[in-house]
Amino acid sequence: RKFLKTAALVAAAAVLVACGKKDEPVAAAPAASAPPPPPPAKVYVVGTDAAYAPFEFQNEKGEIVGFSVDLLNAVAAKGGFEVKFVNTPWEGIFNALGQGDRDLLISSITITDERKQTMDFSDPYFDAYQLIAVKESSKIAKFDDLKKLKVGVQTGTTGDEVVTKLLGKNSTNVKRFESTPLALKELEAGGVDAVVADNGVVVNFVTNNPGAKFKTITDKAFLPEQYGVAVKKGNAEMLAKINKGLAAIKADGTYDKVFAKTFGAAPAPAAAAA
Ligand code: ARG
Repeated sequence: RKFLKTAALVAAAAVLVACGKKDEPVAAAPAASAPPPPPPAKVYVVGTDAAYAPFEFQNEKGEIVGFSVDLLNAVAAKGGFEVKFVNTPWEGIFNALGQGDRDLLISSITITDERKQTMDFSDPYFDAYQLIAVKESSKIAKFDDLKKLKVGVQTGTTGDEVVTKLLGKNSTNVKRFESTPLALKELEAGGVDAVVADNGVVVNFVTNNPGAKFKTITDKAFLPEQYGVAVKKGNAEMLAKINKGLAAIKADGTYDKVFAKTFGAAPAPAAAAA
């Protein structure tokens, strides 16, 4: 009987202790055997205008895929950071970076002196140039022929810049579109006489839309361009990680593999050296 009484007391005490424990702060576990877990890696939010095949676009499942995605994933793995891609319209993309809504941008962005004033760029990762797309039947043979014609461009791109320079700031013949595919669709529909845009995207469209019957024209007037990853001005830490990753994938052959996956061949020496 005395035993029962004691047992009951012990049980009651145990309940009290258990109840009290709920509100007690959890004591840090002694770091006896297992090392403390690493802090969760910060995931950087990446802005990209995913209407730019084969660089950045959405697959049937709506996932953002393409050369830029493969490239940045490889860079991140070597640079020691994680990334999450968020589809971001081109027209607001630089503001999104400036306001901190995006940590970095990879969107086939040409490194220009003007842009360098408001953002910082990684080392270049891709060589590009402008290309003129016209109908196969067109008599247009060179850039200068576009002077008095209607030309489609994606708003605020380097294509827009060169065409605006040729046609004049106030020309109503510069037809600006939200995306490059929209400009190319308009060319197909006959609403513009030509489109000027990055070579990779134009070639991709022409190849995948033989029914559109386009041909492409290069011109010496177009200066060489290079794509870079953009970060907020002054974000030296992020830039260092990206450049470290880029250098690593160029050195170990990963860059060439990523390039070949999209473009089917090893990059030209000039691109590899960039
Ligand atoms: N390279 C051109 C530029 O920087 C066009 C880039 C457009 N990219 C895109 N994802 N829409 O102006």
